[in-house]
Amino acid sequence: MILVTGGAGFIGANFVLDWLAQSDEPVVNLDKLTYAGNLENLVSLQGNARHVFVRGDIGDTALVERLLSEHRPRAVVNFAAESHVDRSIHGPEDFIQTNIVGTFRLLEAVRTYWSGQLSDEAKAAFRFLHVSTDEVYGSLKSGEPAFTEQHRYEPNSPYSASKAASDHLVRAYHHTYGLPVLTTNCSNNYGPYHFPEKLIPLMIVNALGGKALPVYGDGQQIRDWLYVKDHCSAIRRVLEAGRLGEVYNVGGWNEKPNIEIVDTVCALLDELRPRTDKKSYREQITYVKDRPGHDRRYAIDAHKLERELGWRPAETFDTGIRKTVRWYLDNQAWVAGVTSGSYRQWVERHYA
Ligand code: NAD
Ligand code: TYD
Repeated sequence: MILVTGGAGFIGANFVLDWLAQSDEPVVNLDKLTYAGNLENLVSLQGNARHVFVRGDIGDTALVERLLSEHRPRAVVNFAAESHVDRSIHGPEDFIQTNIVGTFRLLEAVRTYWSGQLSDEAKAAFRFLHVSTDEVYGSLKSGEPAFTEQHRYEPNSPYSASKAASDHLVRAYHHTYGLPVLTTNCSNNYGPYHFPEKLIPLMIVNALGGKALPVYGDGQQIRDWLYVKDHCSAIRRVLEAGRLGEVYNVGGWNEKPNIEIVDTVCALLDELRPRTDKKSYREQITYVKDRPGHDRRYAIDAHKLERELGWRPAETFDTGIRKTVRWYLDNQAWVAGVTSGSYRQWVERHYA
């Protein structure tokens, strides 16, 4: 049994689906179902006895302690977070609460369980894997080498600062209490079930809806893209073989300027679902005011993970982005659910 937090979100849901497809080991999935948590990501698990879903907050100590004592997981994988930079600029409070205070409370509950309720053997085998981001390292200048695990922390947004704080807490729990932790810092993910507020799904959904494709500033900011299933395979590998207390950067060597991403999405849609007027979706690109404090470039050096644990991504950017665009075309009902608000109304009724 493993406990996954945030397993109804984009990466967490992909992780839970892959985990249950590849192993017999059950999952307890603790998720608060914020606007970003979506049980429709997990409909294929309905009736699957190996998936136990619990709506709740990682900061709810009594609940987390109860889940740990009841299910006795051998590992906790912590995805739960507020994850959108723009939202963190407009309202940082939730980021501080979940990413910092929530992670702290989760660590405390896990420490109580790990130190007091496990046999020596189970204690030695236990793992707390914290899922984090490359954004904690700050912004790179053109020509600077990609982020290694030794790069200093220099977070620039309230989101990245809150993730950096959580990474430091995880590190401290290892050094101070000996909690067997692992941390992964991954580059930008894309793929199925990505909430359409982030660049790639927003562009796909807006393009199909005939809306503007808003490119911030000059569109030359660089992100390093990884297909979400490759992130999930990296986490599984680190959980299985990572050295205790170590940090592993995860990335697929796919640095691309934003405008190139938007251009690729438009080209794929032109091919797969041409506009009725036969014009290119590129016509909808609109340059808008830049994000405040916008980091110019992220790039991940994933050599450590490749060398020590033999991990390799399965997708190139070309194969991954084609799969992603196809997924959105084939799952318009999912898109309608998350964009219309009908799903939120269901959550509030169901958990009232
Ligand atoms: P997401 O916003 O899609 O999902 C987050 C999930 O956490 C949601 O299901 C939400 O309901 C849940 N959640 C939020 N607050 C919670 C709380 N207090 N208690 C329990 N559950 C809570 O995010 P994502 O893109 O899937 O990211 C998952 C993790 O991976 C985050 O920690 C993020 O920092 C990290 N990460 C994301 C990316 C990326 O490109 N998306 C890259 C690197 C790392
Ligand atoms: P985003 O998906 O929000 O991820 P992050 O900020 O965590 O990297 O944004 C990716 C890049 O795309 C980032 O440089 C901001 C830019 N962007 C746009 O140009 N337009 C948009 O509408 C969005 C959401 C992002």
